[in-house]
Amino acid sequence: MKVEHILTDNKQLTALQVMQDAAVIPVIVLEELAHAVPMARALLAGGIRMLEITLRTPQALACIEAIAKEVPEAVVGAGTVRSAADAQAAALAGARFAVSPGYTPALGRACRDAGLPLLPGVATGSEILQAQEDGLSELKFFPAMQAGGLGMLKAWSGPFGDVRFCPTGGVTPLNAPEFLALPNVVCVGGSWLVPAVALAQADWPRITQLARDAVRLKPSVA
Ligand code: 3PG
Repeated sequence: MKVEHILTDNKQLTALQVMQDAAVIPVIVLEELAHAVPMARALLAGGIRMLEITLRTPQALACIEAIAKEVPEAVVGAGTVRSAADAQAAALAGARFAVSPGYTPALGRACRDAGLPLLPGVATGSEILQAQEDGLSELKFFPAMQAGGLGMLKAWSGPFGDVRFCPTGGVTPLNAPEFLALPNVVCVGGSWLVPAVALAQADWPRITQLARDAVRLKPSVA
């Protein structure tokens, strides 16, 4: 089934579909509810539909709810999901996927129960094994630069050849093409698409331009 179709009929996505939609999943921190909808529209205008709103601010759930209701062309997800309660609250608010900074079987279960595809963070082989035991093979490599960067992903491609990654943490427009060139990388995550200063200044054209530039990122070997 095509992602286009799933986006409009509200069916449950797979983690792979979330990853395959664009080269970058924006990691978004919203301090103001009023920013949520114009920010989502700005990203959409630049070609980015999968939006990870991190549960790091008191307004995050309300922001997810507003985007889910008012920007139906976007697919809003919750980031920084750390507990079963986070997963349930995110799903109730209208999130359609979850991203977490780590993995536990309880978190995996909670996301399954809430109907949320989960992109869990891993940084070690043991964490990959744990996620795979629970049926998850699309994983976020976090924090990517700090935990070994390109070299780590190359090393994992042997023993974990069936795992696909979204490196996140320290990824920039400059190093993203090298990550995207790796066969086990589907997309990258990054906060650079939604700078705090652009939000503070309501500079939506800047966010649209950053999204446009991000969707044009092409794999390249350094
Ligand atoms: C985060 O958790 O904030 C993400 O990993 C984003 O990291 P970045 O700011 O380095 O893109």
